[in-house]
Amino acid sequence: MNDPILPPGAAPADPPAGKIMLVGIGPGSVEHMTARARSAIAEADVVVGYVTYIKLVADLLDGKEVVRKGMTEELDRAVSALDAARAGKKVALISSGDAGVYGMAGPTYEVLFQAGWTPEGDVALEIVPGASALNSCAALVGAPLTHDFCAISLSDLLTPWPVIARRLDAVAMADFVVALYNPKSGRRTRQIVEAQRLFLRHRRADTPVAIVKSAYRRRQSIVFTTLDQMAEQDIGMLSTVLIGNSSTFVRDGLMVTPRGYANKYDMDEGGATRDGEKAGRSLSTGLNGWLASLQAEHAAGASAEQLAARHRLPVDYIRATLDEPLESEA
Ligand SMILES: C[S@@+](CC[C@H](N)C(=O)[O-])C[C@H]1O[C@@H](n2cnc3c(N)ncnc32)[C@H](O)[C@@H]1O
Repeated sequence: MNDPILPPGAAPADPPAGKIMLVGIGPGSVEHMTARARSAIAEADVVVGYVTYIKLVADLLDGKEVVRKGMTEELDRAVSALDAARAGKKVALISSGDAGVYGMAGPTYEVLFQAGWTPEGDVALEIVPGASALNSCAALVGAPLTHDFCAISLSDLLTPWPVIARRLDAVAMADFVVALYNPKSGRRTRQIVEAQRLFLRHRRADTPVAIVKSAYRRRQSIVFTTLDQMAEQDIGMLSTVLIGNSSTFVRDGLMVTPRGYANKYDMDEGGATRDGEKAGRSLSTGLNGWLASLQAEHAAGASAEQLAARHRLPVDYIRATLDEPLESEA
């Protein structure tokens, strides 16, 4: 890019004093680290991270200041990174997985904004994405996340339990596949039992569950179990728990959540389109088809309350949709 044309006498803006790079290194094996993660660490003057992760990039650390940190110093780490960057250094803060998923990215922005930092200011910031635990754990067990999913952390160190419980209840009811982060630690042992209790209110006891510990690390272990057995398994700080939805199945040691092709195509008939369905068009039970059947059921005497209960949707939503004229799908 060309340099901007400055008015006569104007001095060019000062270059950024330094830079903070939030580097996600993936699950914890060199092979699963991105090229940018490695080059960001290579170009840093200061590298901050847990001992385990620092060891993974030992070959890149010659001549650098290396700060090995403990678990509970996230805000301190962000403050030290800002101080070093303001002094003109490039700082790499190493996170496992992705720095933006239960990682250092949020606390760093909070500290920076608190200190009056702006994106145009003297300290540049780059987030280097990495494969999060849910990507890594999913890859090891099959294809559990190929339909709607969400992540919930069971850590109540910074989040009140009722907030966590409400989210668990909502996603269990809504049939999401769920990745539970921070499921259990030495002190936090009851959270996984409470999560199981909430899930069993909405999901079948035999819902498939995979527990992946230390994905892509030396002590990697994978256990397939079911929702009613999940809390009795060996779960720790380095485990991620994947709970399937009502369509998820386990076959030949692989956990798979269907995309929904079987709703449209007859897999036993060479993939022929099912009666009433068209390739490239919404399902017959997609929005328009569903609205048409809702109108028909209502015209046949079903009340908005009965339809709401049948479809497990809010009654005011059902009323609003019944009031709208149908659109035809081109
Ligand atoms: C504070 S969170 C950090 C998440 C990380 N930033 C990420 O994107 O994966 C820590 C939790 O991530 C999960 N986790 C991280 N690395 C893992 C791995 N290698 N195998 C399984 N779970 C992992 C565990 O649930 C652990 O309790």
